[in-house]
Amino acid sequence: MLGAEEFIEDTIEDLKQKISGKAIIACSGGVDSMVAAVLAHRAVGDRLLAIYVDNGLMRKGETEEVRGMFEATGMNYEIVDASEEFFSALAGVSEPERKRKVIGEKFIRVFERKAKEFGAEFLVQGTIAPDWIESGDDVRDTIKSHHNVGGLPKEMGMTLVEPLRDLYKDEVRDIARMLGVGASERQPFPGPALAVRCLGEVTPENVAIVREACYIVEDEIRKAAAAGEMELPWQYFAVLLPSKSVGVQGDRRAYGRTIAIRAVSSIDGMTATYSRIPLQVLDRMSVRITNEMKDSVNRVVYDITNKPPATIEWERLPSGFTTKNAIEIP
Ligand code: XMP
Repeated sequence: MLGAEEFIEDTIEDLKQKISGKAIIACSGGVDSMVAAVLAHRAVGDRLLAIYVDNGLMRKGETEEVRGMFEATGMNYEIVDASEEFFSALAGVSEPERKRKVIGEKFIRVFERKAKEFGAEFLVQGTIAPDWIESGDDVRDTIKSHHNVGGLPKEMGMTLVEPLRDLYKDEVRDIARMLGVGASERQPFPGPALAVRCLGEVTPENVAIVREACYIVEDEIRKAAAAGEMELPWQYFAVLLPSKSVGVQGDRRAYGRTIAIRAVSSIDGMTATYSRIPLQVLDRMSVRITNEMKDSVNRVVYDITNKPPATIEWERLPSGFTTKNAIEIP
């Protein structure tokens, strides 16, 4: 790749040529979409509209954080509250690939409405190399149908512009730092958001549990890193498992939910090693989760697998097994 500065200059020039009308971008607040938005804003100013869709699946405080980022960039933006629409579309869906499809579809519908209202002819996306490599093409197996890849432009009749298509995450982070984009130090977060971390059905109740657990994990790990107890992992979060297991409350057996903590170091998400979190930090997370969330969670586990053989996110085996090119280990 070119140096970050040169990449920024060249890309802004290129976007000025490519985007001849109004453009729209969906921003999740993650580094990829934010960098793409800032580059496009520098190229076309108010001809760009940035949309943040609140799908009800975002992390604690995220919507307000994203609002703050938009305000800091001075770009045209809109925050759309579509959480009810998403939850009703997800009712009864528990298979991971189906969740991704439903969320992707719903997202397209909400976004399409906004694009029409604005009269956008161009669609800017923060797609980066691992997104399309892992989504499969002629050569690669489909690992996951990442929702920001596929069908969008054809269906919506807009011209697709992907300024970060050839970059890897670490390169995008360098550019973000150079652009002063606040998202640069945020950890990567999947497009389908907390739905991926709710194994089983994505209900408002399940999302509330995983949201709170993710918040505690992020909070404790950030504090521990700031205090020099550990390095900040590349990605760190909580997963809500779909079954209940037995515990004790007072003198009774009580069945509660299990939270798995995942923290990994990685360069680009393609491979990863699990973080050697100090025991006292694991202990604080476990105690806090089971105390503050005692009405729902009674067990906390830490995932000590690398990628491969595991992936970074967890996923339940889909029933009916519709995933292309996957095998089931007996
Ligand atoms: P896995 O679980 O495949 O994750 O090892 C690699 C990286 O990709 C993120 N991830 C996703 N990102 N849509 C996304 O935009 C998805 O469906 C998705 N699934 C996983 C994951 O958080 C990690 O950073």
